[in-house]
Amino acid sequence: MESDVGDISNMRNASKDVAVVVRDIVTRLAGEPGALLPILHAVQDALGHVPAAAVPEIAHALNLTRAEVHGVVTYYHHFRSQPPGRCVVQVCRAEACQAMGAEALLAHVQQRLGCAVHATSADGAWSLEPVYCLGLCASSPAVMVGDALHARVTPQRFDALVAHPVPTA
Ligand code: FES
Repeated sequence: MESDVGDISNMRNASKDVAVVVRDIVTRLAGEPGALLPILHAVQDALGHVPAAAVPEIAHALNLTRAEVHGVVTYYHHFRSQPPGRCVVQVCRAEACQAMGAEALLAHVQQRLGCAVHATSADGAWSLEPVYCLGLCASSPAVMVGDALHARVTPQRFDALVAHPVPTA
């Protein structure tokens, strides 16, 4: 019973934190032209995703409807409505990496992590995202595991990289 109370208290604190973070970001950025995308980026950078609870606050500040804000969040694959896995893996699918086997590598990554693109593994360990150029075109294919960039990644090298993952900050 005590742990239920603790869980509810933690959930309240978490939603309070979300509200504080979102309010701070909205206050800072709402006056800028085209503020919606910068706000959504800032919220996701701060919280790891754009929680549903953030939408009304953002909509109110920008004089938009909740549906309009929600529509932008769901339109761009970059934005997540749910928290990501503990480590986010990004596989480059742009031209130079594709020419060096990125699609086969991506198929391997999906199998190795047990999750599809734009999804999180069932155990919450991994999220997998495509990315379109990581700036390592001359050393493709490129992959980002957590906050670390890796060049010339083969399936075997990828397996070694994720054997000891560093959580995404
Ligand atoms: S195309 Fe993949 S890093 Fe530039």
